[in-house]
Amino acid sequence: MSGTPPELPIVVLDALMPKAQRLVVNRRGSMVWEVESHRGQYAVKVGHPIEATADWPAQPWTALAPAREGAVLYRLGLDDVAYGGWELGTWNFQPWHEGPDLYELWKPCREPDSRTEPHRGAALGCVEALAELHGKGWAHGDVQPAHFIIGPDRTHLIDLALARGGHVPEGYDFPFRGCLVHYEAPEIARSVLATGEAQPTQEADIYALGASLLISATGWRAVEYPDDAPRREQRQAVASGKRRPVKVHGELGELIDAMLSPAPEDRPTIYEVGKALS
Ligand SMILES: Nc1ncnc2c1ncn2[C@@H]1O[C@H](COP(=O)(O)OP(=O)(O)OP(=O)(O)O)[C@@H](O)[C@H]1O
Ligand SMILES: [Mg+2]
Repeated sequence: MSGTPPELPIVVLDALMPKAQRLVVNRRGSMVWEVESHRGQYAVKVGHPIEATADWPAQPWTALAPAREGAVLYRLGLDDVAYGGWELGTWNFQPWHEGPDLYELWKPCREPDSRTEPHRGAALGCVEALAELHGKGWAHGDVQPAHFIIGPDRTHLIDLALARGGHVPEGYDFPFRGCLVHYEAPEIARSVLATGEAQPTQEADIYALGASLLISATGWRAVEYPDDAPRREQRQAVASGKRRPVKVHGELGELIDAMLSPAPEDRPTIYEVGKALS
């Protein structure tokens, strides 16, 4: 893969016949492109396996993630989606959603001595997007601030590659091995530490939403550990349930605190969160 500039697979070029294209991210076995075609604006995701390095074990699932996500989106009723295989892995395309993500949107709240309070409407938009998914019986598994795109009309929850709740073709499926540790619920962290795998749940999504709102509003992670701590150590800190106090004012702060409850059954449901916010 090194040396030559990355290119879109031929099947994707044939399907979309891009008028313009821009590489958005290219990391850890995954590329995302923004593509303008006569059909509209699309996000194209292309995956390939990554080989083992000193810090990372080999990760064959990065090759499967785009097709798995495509299958999930299709199951959820999105029709403007396509997915399939290419030489090195799989790809999907899906509608492009314009707008900042939650972390970008709340940047002004994180400036030193900021008087900007996190906007309740933006929080509610994220809650509605997650409620739509939970309402269909799915868990997202990888809720994080970058996955909420705040558009002019509504908020979109993206990256459904790890979602659970319905049938996924066997050839594209792979086990859930946890998510970004900052947003990982303690019970997920414990399971990943013990067995290498876990089950995404709606309760764990609620914890991840609480951690996402907290970090976006304040810059603080829900659990304290050194920035450079190895992943296993970060997980152990999360698993221990030792939390930082939530320093967000008012009702939103109380709600975040409840979402971050160590026991999954103590967390509010997404409908309860929505009701409290609206
Ligand atoms: N449908 C979309 N609309 C707009 N932007 C998108 C869309 N899908 C992906 N992106 C952009 O590409 C970035 C990476 O996408 P995504 O999280 O789905 O891929 P990923 O390979 O799983 O990345 P990561 O490993 O960081 O989670 C997003 O943060 C967002 O900026
Ligand atoms: Mg992602």
